[in-house]
Amino acid sequence: MTRKVKIAVFASGSGSNFGAIEEACRNGALHAEIVVMVTNKPDAYVVERAKKAGIQVAAFCPKDFSTKDAYEEAILGTLREVDVEWLILAGYMRLIGQHLLSAYPSRIVNIHPSLLPSFPGKDAIGQAIEQGVKITGVTVHLVDEGMDTGPILAQRAVAVIDGDVDKTAEAIHAVEHELYKETLIELFSR
Ligand code: GAR
Repeated sequence: MTRKVKIAVFASGSGSNFGAIEEACRNGALHAEIVVMVTNKPDAYVVERAKKAGIQVAAFCPKDFSTKDAYEEAILGTLREVDVEWLILAGYMRLIGQHLLSAYPSRIVNIHPSLLPSFPGKDAIGQAIEQGVKITGVTVHLVDEGMDTGPILAQRAVAVIDGDVDKTAEAIHAVEHELYKETLIELFSR
C-alpha cells in the first residue's frame, strides 16, 4: 500500500465539502489524509466539523497581520510543520497570494459552484439565476493568482431548479461533493 497524500483543506463556511472529503479519506475512497483544516473564520461551522472529526484546526485572522505575505507566511509555517503536499480549497473565500502559490506550484485545487469562466467570485449561484441561465454547474480547477481562474480539471452541469437559489444550491452541493472526490482520486493517482 502506498502512503497517503497529506492534504490541508482550506475553508471559510459551513464546510459541507470539507465533510465530504473527510468522509472519503476516512472510508478509504480517497487515498489521502487531512492533516490540517485552515480557516480565516474561527467561528465558521467548518471548525466544529473538523474538531468532531479529530482534525487539527489552524485559524488565522487576516486582520491580525500587517500584510497578505505575513498572513500567508504564518499559514505556510503550519503547513510545513505537518508536511502538507496539496492545498484543497473548499469554500475558502480569500484569494491565494504569491507566497502560497510559489510554495505549492500547481498543487492548489479549488471548487467553484458555476461552469467557469462564467460567474466567478461570490454568490455564483445567485449570479447565474439573476442572469436567467437554465444550466449552471460545478468546476474543479487548479488555482492561479486570479479569482476562480486556472486550469480546469473537471466540470459537471447542474440544471437550475425553478429559478430558486436554495433548491439549485442543494443540487449543486450534492454534485460538488461527488465531483471533488472523483477529481481528487484521479489527481492523486497520477
Ligand atoms: C461551495 O459551494 C464552493 O463551491 C463555494 O463555496 C461553497 C462552500 O460550501 N466556493 C466558492 O464560491 C469559491 N469561489 P461548503 O462550506 O458547504 O463546502
